[in-house]
Amino acid sequence: MEDKTVYTTKEAACYLGVSPSTIYRMEKRGLLSPTKTSGGQRRFSQKSLEECLRKSQNLETTLIREKPVSYETTTRVKPYFHKNSICIYNTDFLSTACIKEKTIDLIVTSPPYNVGIKYSSHDDKMFYEDYLSFTRKWLARCYRLLKDDARFCLNIPLDKNKGGQQSVGADLTTIAKQVGFKYHSTIVWNEGNISRRTAWGSWLSASAPYVIAPVELIVVLYKKRWKKSSGSRKSDITKKEFMEWTNGVWNFVGESKKRIGHPAPFPVELPRRCIKLFSFVGDVVLDPFLGSGSTLIACALTNRRGIGVEIDKNYCGLARQRLINEAKIYQLKL
Ligand SMILES: C[S@@+](CC[C@H](N)C(=O)[O-])C[C@H]1O[C@@H](n2cnc3c(N)ncnc32)[C@H](O)[C@@H]1O
Repeated sequence: MEDKTVYTTKEAACYLGVSPSTIYRMEKRGLLSPTKTSGGQRRFSQKSLEECLRKSQNLETTLIREKPVSYETTTRVKPYFHKNSICIYNTDFLSTACIKEKTIDLIVTSPPYNVGIKYSSHDDKMFYEDYLSFTRKWLARCYRLLKDDARFCLNIPLDKNKGGQQSVGADLTTIAKQVGFKYHSTIVWNEGNISRRTAWGSWLSASAPYVIAPVELIVVLYKKRWKKSSGSRKSDITKKEFMEWTNGVWNFVGESKKRIGHPAPFPVELPRRCIKLFSFVGDVVLDPFLGSGSTLIACALTNRRGIGVEIDKNYCGLARQRLINEAKIYQLKL
């Protein structure tokens, strides 16, 4: 990866999932050698942090772990909501240390698309280059959290034509491969949404027509091995579902923003299919951009353990409420 990011002590601590005092101890032990600003403040290069992570993984030591932690979340960050095996963190996925590395079996997520949606706590109108750099950061983070035989279902648009034509699907898949992911396949989700159509370009003329496919992608990636060996090895998919869903064109309608109260929800059907097709019962599923909580509802309904991260407190509240109403989380025995 490109080494153009420099981290303060606090940021380096977040990056490695430790406290700032551990960073000082690691420096004393020669594991990290920061540079110093003219004012004497420490700066850590991304390369040195990655190197440090690699060393700790190679040595198979608990070098950067301060205390033993149970389950896949760390004890340092308090969840917004935790019931049975479902957990919501109200925090920024780019800097949080709430999830332990190499503990996640499956990620199902739909990140912000950078199409000018009015989220309460996220700028969805970045310059495209900035959006790609944001993407690189969160994808690299996802990679580290996954187990070696874990999968990643990335729901993204095929193309974007608001604010200029961009091949979002192709660009994000390329970045995912650059941060280490291996490509498996792409599912085309046909939302059957034709009302979206507002611009035709040059109507009935070849001078400058617009072409836009009313579909989204679910890019299926994995970390190191496609064959899954960890977990319960118990699948709950029926023959009918397996036959239907392994055909890579999925037809089901999108979710209503108004009904859910979120500007860009996906239907629970999307994570439900990904979860049943790509994970075993009891696996740990993460959605780093939880929004209104659809992925966690699917987890609760399919007996998977679920972790969601969402930067906006109101959306966390919405997700919790949906878990109570739609997944009956207080009645479920997971
Ligand atoms: C496309 S929406 C996800 C919708 C979700 N799949 C659902 O069904 O409701 C993206 C979400 O990511 C959240 N978000 C944006 N930046 C974030 C960040 N850095 N960390 C965590 N959440 C973030 C936004 O607030 C928004 O709710």
